[in-house]
Amino acid sequence: MTDQKNTLIDKLPKAELHLHIEGTLEPEMMLALAKRNDIALPYDSVEEIRAAYEFDGLQDFLDLYYAGMSVLIEERDFYDLTWAYLETVADQGVTHVEIFFDPQAHTDRGIAFETVLGGITSALETGARELRITSRLIMCFLRHLPEEQAFDALHSACRHKDHIHAVGLDSSEAGIPPSNFARVYEAARNEGFITVAHAGEEGPAAYVTDALDILKVSRVDHGNHALDDPALVARLVREKTPLTMCPLSNLRLKVIASMEANPVKTALDAGLLVTVNSDDPSYFGGYINANYEAVTDALDLSITDIVTLAKNSFAASFLPDEEKQTHIDAVERHAGKFMRSAD
Ligand code: ADE
Ligand code: ZN
Repeated sequence: MTDQKNTLIDKLPKAELHLHIEGTLEPEMMLALAKRNDIALPYDSVEEIRAAYEFDGLQDFLDLYYAGMSVLIEERDFYDLTWAYLETVADQGVTHVEIFFDPQAHTDRGIAFETVLGGITSALETGARELRITSRLIMCFLRHLPEEQAFDALHSACRHKDHIHAVGLDSSEAGIPPSNFARVYEAARNEGFITVAHAGEEGPAAYVTDALDILKVSRVDHGNHALDDPALVARLVREKTPLTMCPLSNLRLKVIASMEANPVKTALDAGLLVTVNSDDPSYFGGYINANYEAVTDALDLSITDIVTLAKNSFAASFLPDEEKQTHIDAVERHAGKFMRSAD
């Protein structure tokens, strides 16, 4: 990648729309919180933790991801986790974030919903004040658990509509169709929540279609396998449904065989509203700029492609139209000097 593209990406204003806050738990913080909360971990050092991050696929990763969360106990743990993420991405040009959290992974361990939410939201408020990063919070249902338990999470979310904007669906995908969650999504929409869902990461294109038709999602998280179905691609383009793609995650979870096989450029060229995100950066070896750099490098993205990705990140966000435009104007201002001398 040229220095010019590196410099462009570095402070290019961008939104991150696919980020699991629990997936930002760095090994250093995992060890520190284990000590603070007197939790036993099967690791003694940062090196041992990092060495464990070799994944065969999504489920293999999820087993470690849920185990890592055992150190998150107190509200201040969730605050520290969220604050560390915001400080990292503030330095990478990020000005807006739409963050997932997995309450069932915590309430199942006896941590109160309000403890989780309180820590995350107060860090987001500090982030708005001190880092000028705006945010939305998306509560995910865990798809490996029964729909009744998703209803419990939804009932909790209904007490906090001021802080939770949307609901999503994550965790193990293979063999678990979106239709399993039709009723809880309908209830969520009736309560005024926007809906998104992970679909087409390991699951087939049909799961993306079902997420659109049955869950009525406004955005598809990952959506890699949507590209297997040309009619579905045409529909996503026509309906301007965003895809939140995660290149380093795809590589580390073996969704793609190599970074060169990443579908971001194909999706851009097809006219899809594709965005680039980090998913679980602590586990997958890079935050948002590392993802922009990896796809730029592997797919030889042009300056125009990079700028389109940044604009898409705001266009695909849940911000009001006026705020989207303000951010897109900021992208254009920042990119101006690069575009003039560009390809
Ligand atoms: N939870 C955290 N990261 C995830 C991913 N990439 N897919 C599904 N569920 C997740
Ligand atoms: Zn994800």
